[in-house]
Amino acid sequence: MGRKLLLEHANVPGIESFEVYRKNGGYRSVEKALKTMSPQNVVEEVQASGLRGRGGAGFPTGMKWSFLAKPEGVPRYLLCNADESEPGTFKDRYLMEKIPHLLIEGMIVSSYALGCNQSYIYIRGEYMWVLEIVEKAIAEAYANGFLGKNILGSGYDLDLAICPGGGAYICGEETALIESLEGKRGNPRIKPPFPAVKGLWGCPTVVNNVESIAAVVPIVNDGGAEYAKIGIGKSTGTKLISACGNLVKPGVYEIELGLSVEEFIYSDEWCGGIANGKKIKACVPGGSSVPILPANLITKTAEGTDRLMTYESLAEGGFATGSMLGSGGFIVFDEDQCIVRNTWNFARFYAHESCGQCSPCREGTGWMEKVLRRLEYGQGHMHDIDLLAEINKKIEGNTICPLGDAAAWPVAAAIRHFREEFEWHVTHPDEAVKRNFGIASN
Ligand code: NAI
Ligand code: SF4
Repeated sequence: MGRKLLLEHANVPGIESFEVYRKNGGYRSVEKALKTMSPQNVVEEVQASGLRGRGGAGFPTGMKWSFLAKPEGVPRYLLCNADESEPGTFKDRYLMEKIPHLLIEGMIVSSYALGCNQSYIYIRGEYMWVLEIVEKAIAEAYANGFLGKNILGSGYDLDLAICPGGGAYICGEETALIESLEGKRGNPRIKPPFPAVKGLWGCPTVVNNVESIAAVVPIVNDGGAEYAKIGIGKSTGTKLISACGNLVKPGVYEIELGLSVEEFIYSDEWCGGIANGKKIKACVPGGSSVPILPANLITKTAEGTDRLMTYESLAEGGFATGSMLGSGGFIVFDEDQCIVRNTWNFARFYAHESCGQCSPCREGTGWMEKVLRRLEYGQGHMHDIDLLAEINKKIEGNTICPLGDAAAWPVAAAIRHFREEFEWHVTHPDEAVKRNFGIASN
């Protein structure tokens, strides 16, 4: 097993309480930062760590922080994006449920580094029980002098509030999240300006994922250089992976970046292999927005080198033969699973969640869903497969926010790697319907 920087104490009984968390070394980074480091020192440690945004985009966190505008007399905000909604992704939920004080500790140190006196955690509306856990932890942090005025006598003040979303996936897009927090409908804004310049209420704002903020704690405790020693190349540190699908041991794992995909899937220390002795057919390694990989490209790249759990290795080969680490939502499909059905399922999700602001996404996601549905229900034609590829091209790169691309990429990859399965649905409609629904087509 690799090193655990975030989940080391996650299974200690009572760790969700302030008392037990503190006894296990909790809030050390706040003491260290507020008593011995300047805000700029903290930013430098995060830059040195090489930490990349854990929400999915992998943008360097230290660089994002350094972009934050600092106009005189204007407040700055840190927003924690806890609106985790990517299908296959449930790592932030696990972290908040198990060890909520780690997120609060990270919020305090990160807010101090960025010069924020009011920060927010925007949490997915469906995670109401998690909201209650985090709310209780925030109250305990206030009661113990880690939030509020003059934290630990340092002169630094911070208020931390939690805001529930209303159940819209799009509010996880950072500018939609900001709109929602401002009390408006969660429609993404055009970027630039980036939130670092003009964010919440027009003020400079940093939006970071739950896991990214939690990772600041070990970075401050041990130093950015120590953190950077874990991993390979530009993929430093540890990463939470939510593994699901046809695995012997699905669950949330903290891995050191650089672990081989083969070991992650098949070793008993991790997922334990494919359930029920079946063979692997495909894998979506980074949440529903990233391209699907067929069996021959999961543990090896097209060049035959070992595929590693890193941003670079999972992307090797580009979209032709690679994918992305994304949010770490690792979905495994065994030989019995239907790729057309899964592609339709994802397409249904994106069509439902499109905010409707831009035509290529609003019309295109709904259109793709309809075409995939008729293929799945044994009513499709061969030209529908090319039609899907055409709609894809019209969406990709032509929308305000990444939801359009996220809807297009999985469909394109599924057709690229599993075209014969789409064709089989056209040539064998009755069998396809019977297989997936257990009924005859009409
Ligand atoms: P992005 O690449 O547009 O931006 C990354 C971050 O860097 C943003 O915070 C952005 O403001 C900042 N940034 C980039 N260039 C900048 C500049 N020049 N100046 C200042 N700041 C700059 O990607 P985005 O939209 O943040 O995330 C998309 C990803 O989110 C997708 O890859 C998807 O995998 C993932 N995702 C994850 C979900 C989850 O549940 N964890 C849900 C939906 C999507
Ligand atoms: Fe809305 Fe889709 Fe356009 Fe994003 S891409 S702004 S979700 S319509």
